Amino acid sequence: MKIDRRGFLASTGLTAAAIAATYRSVGPVAAGHDADMSSWAGIREQFGVSPEFVHMSSFFLASHPASVRQAIEDYRRQLDSNPLEAVRTQNGRLKVETAIAGYLGAKPEEIALTDSTTMGLGLVYHGLMLKAGQEILTTTHDHYSHHESIRLAAGRAGASVKKISLFDDFKSITEAGIVERIKREIAPKTRVVGVTWVHSSGGVKLPIRSIAAAIAEKNRGRAEADKTLLIVDGVHGLGVEDEAVAKLGADFFVAGTHKWMFGPRGTGIIWANAETWKAVRPIIPSFSGAAMSGWFSGSAEPATRAEMMTPGGFHSFEHRWAVPAAFAFHEQIGRAKIAARIHALNDQMKEGLAKMPKVTLHTPRGSKLSAGMVCFDVDGMRPGTVVQKLLAKKVIASTTPYSVTYARLAPSLLNDENEVDAVLRHVRELS
Ligand SMILES: Cc1ncc(COP(=O)(O)O)c(C=O)c1O
Repeated sequence: MKIDRRGFLASTGLTAAAIAATYRSVGPVAAGHDADMSSWAGIREQFGVSPEFVHMSSFFLASHPASVRQAIEDYRRQLDSNPLEAVRTQNGRLKVETAIAGYLGAKPEEIALTDSTTMGLGLVYHGLMLKAGQEILTTTHDHYSHHESIRLAAGRAGASVKKISLFDDFKSITEAGIVERIKREIAPKTRVVGVTWVHSSGGVKLPIRSIAAAIAEKNRGRAEADKTLLIVDGVHGLGVEDEAVAKLGADFFVAGTHKWMFGPRGTGIIWANAETWKAVRPIIPSFSGAAMSGWFSGSAEPATRAEMMTPGGFHSFEHRWAVPAAFAFHEQIGRAKIAARIHALNDQMKEGLAKMPKVTLHTPRGSKLSAGMVCFDVDGMRPGTVVQKLLAKKVIASTTPYSVTYARLAPSLLNDENEVDAVLRHVRELS
């Protein structure tokens, strides 16, 4: 039996007016009413992070600013008061995708929603129609979630994996050198180049545009199904760099929105343009109209669209629907202003560390090949010990979770120049 909206309302005993009244109280998704978004101190006050610490690992998992907390709370109330109607009211209108699209320079219908970077990478690599004998080219600098998505997907398809290093040491990194190393490894069998925009292993920011241009050159004259696709894990660039990521040149851009974007925990995106989405097939059934109509009518599976790659099933909807508040928060400050601020604080940190004779800086200086993370070593001290000693001084640092590990500091919008100076003083004392 088909049931339309009016039939549904009758079955719940609710009238449209009653439902409108229920939801009239839903709050705004922009910054809190009394928020001072004109100063960095005012922006910092939007976060509930504990003031006794200097938070230098905020990229790990977002602390929600006030507007995001408010939006989550509003949607939670809607869901708790009437789950079924809340879902009917909010779902299927591309509202979340539309809010994200403006920031990405994309179209709403090009965006799939996920729970994390990891989920996005898994969906894309497993969704690719890889053929036995094809190869995925990746690098030694990528995250566990990226490497494992590649290994598992390649293993199922009988494809091979090649991992290359993009530089020998941090002092000699150049944009041309990175691009050249990728370019010379691309063969006719290379179906994918999988890279990370900003490495959490060393803080290096890759020149994605130049890599994309090199791949486009290699793709000239190749059949669509054999072309090399560029898949980018962009989680540590999104919310940091002043880039409309849909214009970067990646074929698939995958990121969590719960790190630098300050989005609700358990949220993420995949972006690709309409044509590129056709290169993958869904892994998890989507609850999208396009996917479900085929099941209802028994018609052939349609060409993949972004909405068909958004995994179905019910989610922590209050978090997903509150994603626009995080993008609004960034837009309110301005992407360029955020990028300049994060780069300035990170430059200050790098310059300070570079002056310390017993400290080895592993992240390139300047903004061109780095973003919001600074990796370093203190002579004769294990990275874990550096982090512990900083914690004793109330500084939240981290180690890089890779086979070669460094101490890592990540100045962000939750910090200021005085905090960077204080952290530098502590590191100097350690060294
Ligand atoms: C480069 C990189 N990719 C992916 C991830 C995993 O992100 P998520 O928690 O969104 O799956 C991380 C974790 O911090 C990371 O550093």
